[in-house]
Amino acid sequence: MRGSFKVSAPGKLFLFGEHAVLHGQSALVCAVTQRMSIIVKMRPDSSVRIFSDLGEFYTDLQNIQSHPQFRFVLSAISSQAKYLRTGFDLKIESDFSANVGLGSSAAVTAATTAALFEMANRERKPLDIFQAGLETVRKIQGTASGADLAAAVFGGIISYRMQPLSIEKSDQKYPLTVVYSGTKLPTTKVINIVEEKRQRHPKLFASIFELMGKSALQAAEAIKKNKWQKVGELLNINQGLMDAIGVNNRVLSEIVYLLRREPEILGAKISGSGLGDCVVGLGSIQQDLSYQILPVEISTEGILFLNKKDVVRVLLGGKNISAKTSASAFASSNIALCKYWGKRNEELNLPVTSSLSVSLGHLGTRTKISFSSTADRIVLNDHELANDAPFARRLISFLDLFRSRGEKYIVETKNNFPTAAGLASSASGFAALVLALDDLYEWRLTKRELSILARLGSGSASRSIFNGFVEWQRGSRDDGMDSFAQVLAKQWPELRLGVVTVADEQKAVASRAGMRRTTETSKLYRSWPLQVEKDLRNIKEAIQRRDFELFGKTAESNALAMHATMLAAWPPLLYWKPQTVLVFQKVWEMREAGVPVYFTIDAGPNVKLLFLESQFNVVREDFHKLEIVTPFIR
Ligand code: DP6
Repeated sequence: MRGSFKVSAPGKLFLFGEHAVLHGQSALVCAVTQRMSIIVKMRPDSSVRIFSDLGEFYTDLQNIQSHPQFRFVLSAISSQAKYLRTGFDLKIESDFSANVGLGSSAAVTAATTAALFEMANRERKPLDIFQAGLETVRKIQGTASGADLAAAVFGGIISYRMQPLSIEKSDQKYPLTVVYSGTKLPTTKVINIVEEKRQRHPKLFASIFELMGKSALQAAEAIKKNKWQKVGELLNINQGLMDAIGVNNRVLSEIVYLLRREPEILGAKISGSGLGDCVVGLGSIQQDLSYQILPVEISTEGILFLNKKDVVRVLLGGKNISAKTSASAFASSNIALCKYWGKRNEELNLPVTSSLSVSLGHLGTRTKISFSSTADRIVLNDHELANDAPFARRLISFLDLFRSRGEKYIVETKNNFPTAAGLASSASGFAALVLALDDLYEWRLTKRELSILARLGSGSASRSIFNGFVEWQRGSRDDGMDSFAQVLAKQWPELRLGVVTVADEQKAVASRAGMRRTTETSKLYRSWPLQVEKDLRNIKEAIQRRDFELFGKTAESNALAMHATMLAAWPPLLYWKPQTVLVFQKVWEMREAGVPVYFTIDAGPNVKLLFLESQFNVVREDFHKLEIVTPFIR
C-alpha cells in the first residue's frame, strides 16, 4: 500500500439505448475526456475524512456514517472496509459539474472503488472493480444498468448488456458535439415517468425498446467498421424513438435540429434519460450556439492511476536494481519558438498543445549524481542549498520517484549560462538530472522514455533531452505515455539567438501558477490551441524551407499571443518590465529599417532575439550587452 496516490475515472455519455438497457436490451455508451479524480492519503489512525468542492465529511472506518452528499463514496467505502487496516483522507476532484449528465456518480464510484482496491493491496482487475462498483450503485439506486459504470471502468465506446452481462469495448473515436439544455431532471424521476407510460402500453414500449437495443448493436457494428455516417443515421432514428417514449421536450428538440443543420454533424439525439440534460451530435460544430456546448471528446481510457509514481513504475518496471556509484550528464537549455502554455494535467505536466523549441547548444546544465550516506544534498552552482529551499524541494520530491530502497542522493548541478541571462534552468536542470539518473542506475531507457521522465519534472524539460529543433507532441492519452519530445531532422547552422537581459530577479508568478490562472480565467485562452496549430505548421515549414521571415514572424507572434492570453487572465499576468517593451520597439524599428531580426519571450521579462549570422554585426551594434547563442554550432 502506498502513502498517497491518485486514481481517476472518466465521465460518460450515452449514445444509444439509455432506457432500453434497463429492460434487458443493449446500449452504447462512451467514456469522455472529463474525469473525476480521487486523491488518497493514508492515515495512521482509523479516521476517514472526505473533502470535495461540495464540502467535507469526517467519519471512522469502524463505524461509517452516511452523508447525502457523499452517498456513493461512503457506500463504496463501507463495502470494502473489511479489507482495510487504517483510515485515510480522500479528496474528490471533478472536471465537470454533477449537474450535467456526464455520469458523476458512476465516475466517482469507479474511481473510489479502484482506490479502495489499491489501499487494500487487491489486484486491480477491471472486471472485479466493475462488479464491486455495481453493487455499490445498486445499493443506492436500486435499478441501475451499470452501463455508465462500465464506461467509467473500461473507457472507450462500450456495447453493454445487463443480463447476461456483456461488455464489449471499442477504441474507435469520432468528434462529438455535446450541448447542455440548461436543465436536468433527476434520472430516477424520468425513469419513473417512462415506467408509468410503459405500464399503460407494455407491448408498444417493448417493441420500441427492442428497436433501441437493435440500433445499439447496429451502431456498435458500424463503429467497428468506421462507418460513422451510418451511426449518424441511427442517432437520428433513435431521437424519434426517444420522442416516442416521451422524454423529448421543446429545448431538446430545438438543439437536435440546430445540430442537424450543421454541415459536419452526421446525426443528433438526446443523450441520457431525457426531459432535460444533453444532446449529442456526431461530428464537430462550426458555429456558436446560445446553449452551452460542453467540450467533450471520446476517451479510450477507463480507470487510470494517474501518478508520477505510476508512470515511473510503467517505464522502469523493476529496473532500479544495479547502480554505479556516481554518474553525470549535460543537457542544453531550450527556448520555445511555439510555446507551451497551459496544462491538461498538472500532476503529469501534460500540455494543452504541442510546442516546438530550439536548444541552446553549449548553454545548459551539467549534473552529477551520487549516493549520500546521510541525507539528500543539493548543490547548485557550487553552493549547497538548504533542503527546504524551493529549488531543492522540487528536486528532492522528483528524486522521491526513483528511490527504490530508500537511497539518498547528492546532486551537484551547475548551469553554464549566466543566471542573469534569465534562461529557464528547470528545462535543462530536469533533463540533465534524468540523463544522469539513467546512467547511474543503468536503465538504458530510450530518449522518448527519458523525455517522458523529464516532463514529470518540468514540461519544457521534455524538450531538453534532445538537441536542435525539437517538437514536444501533446499526445492524447490521459497517462501521458504519448506526450514526449522528438527531434526534427533539419538544422539551421546560421541561426543565432541573442539574449537581452532586462532583469534577473525571480519571476513573481511561476509558470505552473501562471498557466493555471490563464487556462482558468483568460477568455483569450480559447483561441490559443488554434493559434498554436497554425504556428506549428508555419514554423516547421519555415525551418524546412529556411524561410527566415516566416520563421521569425511566426515565433514573434506566437510569443506575443501567449502573453495576450496572460494579459486577459484575472488577476492579469504581466511578466514584462518597461525595458522589455523598449526592446520590442527597438526590434520593430530595426525591421522597419530593413534588418531581419525578430524576438521571442518566455514567462519573464527577458527577450531573446532571433537573427541570422549575416546580421550579427548590425544586431551587436544596437544591443551591446547580448549573450549570443549558436544553437547548431557546439
Ligand atoms: C513560457 O516548463 O517551466 O517557457 O511544466 O510547470 O515546469 P512547468 O513549466 P515550464 O514552462 C515553460 C513555459 C514557457 C514556454 C515554453 O518553454 O514552451
